[in-house]
Amino acid sequence: METVVVSLGGSVLAPGEPDAAFVKRLAAELRTLSESHRLFVVTGGGRIARAYIEAGRALGAAESFLDRLGIKVTRLNARILLAALGASSADEMPHTVEEAVTAGKSSRLVVMGGTTPGHTTDAVAAELAEAVRAVRLVNATSVDGVYTADPAKDATATRLDRVTFEDLIRLSGEAHRKAGPSIVFDPKAARIVAKASIPVAVVNGRDLEALRNAVLGRPFRGTLVN
Ligand code: UTP
Repeated sequence: METVVVSLGGSVLAPGEPDAAFVKRLAAELRTLSESHRLFVVTGGGRIARAYIEAGRALGAAESFLDRLGIKVTRLNARILLAALGASSADEMPHTVEEAVTAGKSSRLVVMGGTTPGHTTDAVAAELAEAVRAVRLVNATSVDGVYTADPAKDATATRLDRVTFEDLIRLSGEAHRKAGPSIVFDPKAARIVAKASIPVAVVNGRDLEALRNAVLGRPFRGTLVN
């Protein structure tokens, strides 16, 4: 059975507030996909994490403290998805990549949030993808792929069907320096997938058809990084 890791942006689960109706449909889709694939889903923190990080920064908290605030929110989002999957309140989610690898031995669908300060959940997903020898990593985010320029600012921006690992590294920038949002993909994550040659499918996580096709390795609306 093929293993796929999904890095699920927090903004997908909670564009503003948590979107229960969407999370229910997403959970049903993930359940169906886990019948044919072993799935690991790493949830991000989205706008809520950003709001807490900004508040903490305004209060003078150190970067690692802010990262911990972010991690809490990623785990909060993981819990919302777990609620939709019918998990019991006593169920614990993995807090490390190692725990997730172990959980994957007895479950076809493992959900977790962040791990330690200094990176984003994209990096957690990339570390996990390498550890479980995933055939691909699906980056389910708030945009439907990688563009030639920022589509919000440049009307001529077009979506790229395929980019190389080198392009991804260039687009993702230097390193995670500050708690808070990354641009396309965490630079640490980009380097891990490039080194391990794990293809990445960038899709809009709210487009469940694109998400399904990307997980299954079929043609999808989005950008393939390989
Ligand atoms: P996210 O993974 O949601 O980061 O974690 P992001 O960049 O906002 O979202 P995506 O990946 O582009 O969708 C939110 C914040 O929580 C901290 C970081 O500060 C991150 O920016 N965090 C998260 C950690 O320090 N470690 C983790 O393992 C995960």
